[in-house]
Amino acid sequence: MSDVLKVEKLDGRIALLTVNRPDKMNALNGEVRCALVGALADLRDDDEVRVIVLTGAGDRAFIAGADIKEFEGATPVQQLRAMVRGNIYSAMEDFPKPIIAMIHGYCLGGGCELAMACDIRIASDRARLGQPEINLGIIPGGGGTQRLPRLVGEGRALKLILTGDMIGAEEAGRIGLVDEVVPADELRDRTLELAMRIASRGPIALQAAKESVLAARRMPLDEGLKFERGWFALLFSTKDKEEGVDAFLGKREAHFTGE
Ligand code: COA
Repeated sequence: MSDVLKVEKLDGRIALLTVNRPDKMNALNGEVRCALVGALADLRDDDEVRVIVLTGAGDRAFIAGADIKEFEGATPVQQLRAMVRGNIYSAMEDFPKPIIAMIHGYCLGGGCELAMACDIRIASDRARLGQPEINLGIIPGGGGTQRLPRLVGEGRALKLILTGDMIGAEEAGRIGLVDEVVPADELRDRTLELAMRIASRGPIALQAAKESVLAARRMPLDEGLKFERGWFALLFSTKDKEEGVDAFLGKREAHFTGE
């Protein structure tokens, strides 16, 4: 396990990934990015793990963006290489299991982009979010110009990206940048409770649901509907579907095995 990324398994089914550079506000350097990509590759193949929760160490930040120190003197080619090698944003989005961002404190720049590449965002009421890259003379480079407008609309996205201003959790919740805002001292319990609830569902159905919802970004409606139908029909070949239907009709709790 890398020092800059803690990987813990909770209750077997949940993997908690904690970016661990609290004295640097968990800024994303090359080491963190590579560790995240590596951890996701391992967790993808771990059938026991059904849901990932991503967070940052300490109480000050989820992730305060890319490590600005690494920008100093960086050439375009170096920067491009670093981003392709450690493309954590695509690794998150393309990951076949649900990922929940558990956000406290500062969630800025690449941190906000990473949260947006997760499937669900739960924020503490003390979180501060934003895309401050414009203040450095650059723009978001981890998908911020693409994912933020899809989440909150073009005008609100441009307001955040063009000003570099931070917003509080309440506003982030109101505009749809985060999905739930909870009291800071309840963040961990509420997020893990949600993760457990999702993890108790059938893993193949979870993958089908994530892929189908994300397909809408790439496909026109008619193709997306066909994509959804394909998954829907395929799920009728699974033991999990038999179990789910049988459990409902037998008035008992379903136990999904991912087969
Ligand atoms: N990259 C590298 N180091 C960072 C960092 C980042 N994105 N964000 C914070 N840090 C470091 C600071 O340099 C400081 O390190 P030091 O103690 O060695 O000097 C440490 O984390 C604490 O940050 P500090 O700025 O002292 O805390 P603060 O409470 O005054 O301010 C922030 C907190 C998050 C508002 C401020 O650190 C900030 O604006 N960070 C940059 C955010 C940003 O622009 N992100 C997008 C990058 S593309």
